[in-house]
Amino acid sequence: MNLNNFFNKKKILITGHTGFKGSWLVHWLSRYNVQILGISLNPYKKLNLFKFINKKKLIDKRFDISNHKELEKNFLKFKPDIIYHFAAQALVKRSIINPLETYKTNIIGTANILHCINKLKKKTTSIIVTSDKCYENFNFKRGYVENDRLGGNDPYSASKASAELVFKSFNNSILKKNKKIRIATARAGNVIGGGDWSSDRLIPDCVKAWSKNKKVFIRNPNATRPWQHVLEPLSGYIILTYYLQQNKSINGCSFNFGPSLREVSSVKKVLKISQKFWKNAKFNSYKENLFKEDTLLKLNSNKAKKKLNWKKILTIEKTVQLTIDWYKKFYKNNNVKKILDNDIDYYLKMRNDLFK
Ligand SMILES: NC(=O)c1ccc[n+]([C@@H]2O[C@H](COP(=O)([O-])OP(=O)(O)OC[C@H]3O[C@@H](n4cnc5c(N)ncnc54)[C@H](O)[C@@H]3O)[C@@H](O)[C@H]2O)c1
Repeated sequence: MNLNNFFNKKKILITGHTGFKGSWLVHWLSRYNVQILGISLNPYKKLNLFKFINKKKLIDKRFDISNHKELEKNFLKFKPDIIYHFAAQALVKRSIINPLETYKTNIIGTANILHCINKLKKKTTSIIVTSDKCYENFNFKRGYVENDRLGGNDPYSASKASAELVFKSFNNSILKKNKKIRIATARAGNVIGGGDWSSDRLIPDCVKAWSKNKKVFIRNPNATRPWQHVLEPLSGYIILTYYLQQNKSINGCSFNFGPSLREVSSVKKVLKISQKFWKNAKFNSYKENLFKEDTLLKLNSNKAKKKLNWKKILTIEKTVQLTIDWYKKFYKNNNVKKILDNDIDYYLKMRNDLFK
């Protein structure tokens, strides 16, 4: 797939463009001959990646995706070819403190996006991003596959499972009849990478403390997660866009994007690797967890491998190294656009199995 050709003259609508994944994607896609419309709220934090990215190709709109009238107006005016729906209240702890906000954004917001896609009278390809947390967690040793039961023990997880159900029902009864629409959902595992300063995420909590020479306190050192660099699922979303256009049979499907089952690592392992790249990085574990989190979550991404030729390519060591180096350069006042470009260049070089 040639990225220059694929994206040439495309109008791309990205919801959640001020967030972590959205900022990386806007910066990446700004390399091509595209127009981007971003729809989001303001970044939650003063220090955020969006501040630093390339915005030359971006029309930047800030409003709530629960506002379906405003959303529809913007969809119909911009007439996108490709839609990446990232916007979500994406933090588990915040979802426990404010469940209604989470349900409204993640469930009703997704329904609004699907409604707007259906209103467009043109060919579109859409990726609806949910999460690996959409699965009911049975603490399976095997990885979760796409047709496993959906569920969730906290509002965030349940909202993502619900977004999947909204998608399935909307697609089966409404979108499928519209031959111009190609659409799929994407369920990725935890992502890391430079530029995330969200609360209650492992690496952001660490670098915030370490940059001030402080020790970091860890909630669940033995929890395992399918860690991957943010560019891995983003490459998955892009290749999924391409294959959706080529192959009608995957329309309406869901895809997992995560490391292989062997590569699932514990929080402790990620921290030990981080210590190799950040001198004097120290951590301690809390005696008690402040809130309960499921401890084991593995994703089976064989479907993405078989149907899209996608698999995660960076080792956990390389993933953590890229991430820690990013923050080190940031705190030494390097040019952020350049740090992002270097990571994308490196990733594209490694990703020559998919992209030219
Ligand atoms: N970061 C991860 O590890 C991870 C893992 C699995 C899935 N995901 C999913 O990927 C997507 C992007 O995650 P992220 O890490 O970039 O999240 P983030 O919290 O960094 O960004 C969320 C974005 O959504 C926007 N948003 C939130 N509520 C909104 C609303 N009501 N109306 C309009 N915009 C709104 C925010 O302004 C922001 O731009 C989310 O759907 C998330 O659930 C993330």
